[in-house]
Order: sequence, then C-alpha cells, then structure tokens
Amino acid sequence: MGLRLETENLKGFVEQKDIQALNEDVKRAHEQLEGGTGAGSDFTGWLHLPSLVKDGFLDELVALGKEVRSYSDCLISIGIGGSYLGIRSTLEFLRGEAKLPVYYAGHNMSVDYMQALMEEVRDKDVSVVVISKSGTTTEPALAFRIIKEFLKKKYTEQELQKRIICVTDAKKGALRKIADQCGYRTYVIPDDVGGRFSVLTPVGLVPLAIAGVDVKSLVKGARAAEKEYSIAGVSNNTAHAYAAARFQLFQKGKLIEVLSSFYDNMLSVNEWWKQLFGESEGKNGKGIFPASLILSTDLHSMGQLMQDGVRNIFETFVDIERSNHQIHIPKDPENIDGFNCVAGKDLDFVNKQAYKATAAAHYEGGVPNMTIVLDKPDAFHLGQLYYFFEKAVAVSGYLLSVNPFDQPGVESYKKKMFDLIGK
Ligand code: PA5
Repeated sequence: MGLRLETENLKGFVEQKDIQALNEDVKRAHEQLEGGTGAGSDFTGWLHLPSLVKDGFLDELVALGKEVRSYSDCLISIGIGGSYLGIRSTLEFLRGEAKLPVYYAGHNMSVDYMQALMEEVRDKDVSVVVISKSGTTTEPALAFRIIKEFLKKKYTEQELQKRIICVTDAKKGALRKIADQCGYRTYVIPDDVGGRFSVLTPVGLVPLAIAGVDVKSLVKGARAAEKEYSIAGVSNNTAHAYAAARFQLFQKGKLIEVLSSFYDNMLSVNEWWKQLFGESEGKNGKGIFPASLILSTDLHSMGQLMQDGVRNIFETFVDIERSNHQIHIPKDPENIDGFNCVAGKDLDFVNKQAYKATAAAHYEGGVPNMTIVLDKPDAFHLGQLYYFFEKAVAVSGYLLSVNPFDQPGVESYKKKMFDLIGK
C-alpha cells in the first residue's frame, strides 16, 4: 500500500484550490526532471535507480553480508552527510533487524568520540566500510587514517584486505587511490547521484547488507514508489501534492517545516530528511528551514513553542499505521493513576490519540499541518518513504527555481578549514 497524505489541517492556511493552482507548475517540474532539461540534470541518476538496481547485484550484496558477518563482531561505517545519514536512518528505523552491531565514524572529529569507539571495539573482530563519493572529505579521511592505524595493530595486511571495503568513485579521489594501492574491495557510487540521494546506491546498500538488513525489500519499496510517483500532477501524485502544499505554505510566510513523529525510530530518518531538504532547497537566499521533533518526548520541551511561539512554522507528521508489536495496558484494580480508562488497549492506541490531539491543538494554535501516513515500519515502506521524499524535494526545488542537486555552500567552511590546517 502506498503512502497517504492528509491535508485537512491546512484549511484556512492553504486550500485545496491553492494546491491545484500549482498543478501546471508541478507538471512542468516533473517533465523537466524526467526529460533531463531542468537545473542539475546531471545528478538525476537517483530517479530511476530503484528499477535499475539489478536483482543479481542485490544477491551479491546479501552474500557479501553473510561473508563479512561470519568473521566480524561489528562493522564501522565511516562517512559523513549523504555517505552516513541514510545508513543510520535505515538501521534505526528498522530497529532490531540488524544482525551485526554498526558503529559510525567520520561524521565528527571529536577525539573523545573516537577514543570511546576504539575502546568499544578493541577486543572485537572489526570490519570497516569507508564511504566517500569525492574520496577527499576531511572528516571520513581522517577517521579512516586513525581506524586503519588501529586495525593494523590487530590484523595483517592480508586480513585487512578482507575487512576493509571502500565505496567511492569509479576512478577519481584519494579513497579510490588508497583502495587500489592497498587491494581493498571497492563498490562504485554512480556519477549522476549526489550524496543525499544515494541511500539506494552502494553507499547505503553495502553497509546495510553487511549489517543484515533486508536490502531487497528496501529496493522493492522504492521500486513501488518509483512507479507510483511517475504520474504527474497534484491529484495523482502524493509527492507532488506534498511539494505543492509546502511551497504554498512557504509563500504564506511559513518559513520552517517541522517533521514530527510519534515514533522514535524516525529520529534518524528525520536527520536524513533534513539533509535532503536543507541541502537541496537552501540556496540563492531561498529554502524552507527543515527542523524535526520526536514526540511525545519533544512535546515536553518544544511543545510550548510549537503551540504558542512565532507563527512561521508548519508541521508535517509522519504517522505509522501499524506497529510491529502490541503491548496491552494492564488493568490496575486500585486505579490510583486514573488510567483504567485505557486498560486493555494497545499502547499504540493511546499514542495515536496523542498524535491526533497534538495535530488538532497545533492547528488551533496557528500551525498548519499535514500527515504522511506510512503503513508499517519495515524495509519496504522505508524504501517507499525515501523515494517519496526524493521525488518531492526535486519538484519542490524546481518550484523554488533553485537547482535541487548541487550544494555549493557546503564548500565554504572547507576552504576556510583548509587554510587553517594548511592543506
Ligand atoms: O550531499 C552531499 O553531497 C554532502 O553532504 C556529502 O554527502 C558529504 O559531504 C560527504 O561527501 P563524500 O561522500 O564525498 O565524502
């Protein structure tokens, strides 16, 4: 079943006719995207990636996973940005599905973090996936240096060739050179897919398959979404309706989008989404600021601001229809806390009422909101969600008249840092 978009709580802020009014613009954006005539068309390889990934390649990755798990107690995934977030978001969303613990490195340069990581894995058998499209990003490059040095004390060169896998460009970059020189196994990131769109390339698929995630279902879900969102128009395509609604909200001064979920396994998916939307739209003085909340947790910290602060926010909930488990609330004969009213109900029933109450209260408080409804927290539906957001942000970028596929601003800090470190 596909994703659903509920928009009742936009009424009074953005009407259906406002969404419909963008239909022709959305269709034009869709045609530019599909026809490769829009800005950044060199980086639209993600568009048909799900249907282009070969089943044979997925079989190969499943076998790789089995092999690496047979001699590893854990995996360290080294990467940052698009070479990090999709892996973490998938593993955390599919809580409990991984068959191998995964640690992360290269997404920060905190020495205490690195020290703690090395202590954690010191007595374990470790394998490493190093991911960098450019092969030159400082944070993962330094993490790889340090971890390689650490592993050299544990393993022979030959053993390292088995345990280190590089995911990078086919020809360019320092990581490609190192891999070729040292004889490490490599997987290639396609040229036409940018970091934040790369979760379904070897960037995501290699470490996820090693961790034991069902990468076939992930890709299957994305394939279903590729088909579903190939039709243009706000009435036929939920990704297009979402892009149009948020564009109209932005035009009405709603400058911040808060992605909220009552399901805590969405935490890192929210982070992945922030990169996707922030890096795609935030340029030329434009862009909706992507923020996120996990509820009920954040209702008790950010709830006041959401209800009653500056009214420049709109909210997009991600609701998950069916949980993987049920926990019934016990009846308490004394009922001291007064909660026998929900005794016998599944905890998720109350969670859903909290969502409904919050959506209604925020709406009344001046925060228009919509809800993306996902059927189940499994790999198939996550694949759908990834593709849905990718399709939406591409159209959204074109509506804003920006190139959704570049990130020139990310270079600015790097140049200054290189000056400081003498690179
Ligand atoms: O979206 C992007 O392009 C960036 O966030 C990159 O993913 C990030 O900087 C990592 O780049 P690389 O994979 O080249 O090391």
